[in-house]
Amino acid sequence: MYPRLVIDMPKLSHNIGFIKQRLEKHGINVVPVTKVFRSMPELIQLYIEHGIETISDSRMENLEQLDLPVKKLLLRLPMLSQIERVVKGSDQALVSELAVIQALDEAAVRLDKDYGLILMIDLGDLREGVLVEQLDQFLQDLPPLKRARFEGIGTNLTCYGGVLPTHENLSQLVDCHARLEQHLDYKVPIISGGNTSSLYLLDEDKVPKDINMLRIGEAIVLGHDSSLNNRLPGMHHDAFTLEAELIEVKEKPSLPWGVIGRDAFGAVPTHQDRGMMLRGILAFGKQDVVFDYLVPNQPVEFMGASSDHTIVDLKYGDYQVGDILTFTMSYAGLLQLMTSDYIEKVCRYEAR
Ligand SMILES: Cc1ncc(COP(=O)(O)O)c(C=O)c1O
Repeated sequence: MYPRLVIDMPKLSHNIGFIKQRLEKHGINVVPVTKVFRSMPELIQLYIEHGIETISDSRMENLEQLDLPVKKLLLRLPMLSQIERVVKGSDQALVSELAVIQALDEAAVRLDKDYGLILMIDLGDLREGVLVEQLDQFLQDLPPLKRARFEGIGTNLTCYGGVLPTHENLSQLVDCHARLEQHLDYKVPIISGGNTSSLYLLDEDKVPKDINMLRIGEAIVLGHDSSLNNRLPGMHHDAFTLEAELIEVKEKPSLPWGVIGRDAFGAVPTHQDRGMMLRGILAFGKQDVVFDYLVPNQPVEFMGASSDHTIVDLKYGDYQVGDILTFTMSYAGLLQLMTSDYIEKVCRYEAR
């Protein structure tokens, strides 16, 4: 069935092992971020086979459907309206709000369950986390906890502000960890120093030695670091491939004719005159993935798309209706494709 997303399991397996070993050499535990593929059980199984003990996802829906022997970290700050669900369906969460910490503790007591907290510190990226200068006050205001316990401190960078991790800002995290431990008067084992964008610091030996966990999504699935727009050497960039079918192949002009209004999405279209061309229509559209996030494996060029159709310039290649074109994708593309129910997901186990 097309369109489909083919997952090359040997390539993904290589990437998991590669990152795990690379981080282990620096005493860093990898917690894979699996939200991009909605924590699909077949893929999580592969991570488990590599000895991964904790996976992380931002959605409770994904964590709840996963019935495999692995610890679950909720990546997005819990909603107060979902607290009971969070404690039931996960083992740890990233936190930054006193009211949420208190509610998680109360729910953990009600559910008779121990629950882990990772306190997020905002080092300048301006997404989640307590500001460094507000940490002392935050700690003073912490309620006493019965079943919830701080298991770590963490930060997230390059997500909103595009702020890169550096030795300096990660050292601030280590300093905050010392303040947290001192306040709590117990050992807080995890210092989680960010995501894929922290990997470049390892090459430069600039990750503070106390950092002992990274939460890694993009590097494993795509062998890529968007924050520096780098392909990561030694890793596969094409573990995921979109296969889509041509439903029309015709020689047509490049310019529409008639009175021009707006396109299907309300934009006034502009077109370049390329003369006659071989145009193909692929059976997927903006409802599945925005084509800017795709890279064709054939010498074709995207022309435009509506909800269900994507139009390509076939460059007078040898194509017929029913032919399948293939594409690799960016992280954003993979996220959309995995989220579309119209895209079949196929795990391919034989090596290619
Ligand atoms: C809190 C948090 N940690 C880690 C990650 C993983 O980021 P990356 O895919 O860049 O490794 C994300 C994003 O998915 C995130 O939101």
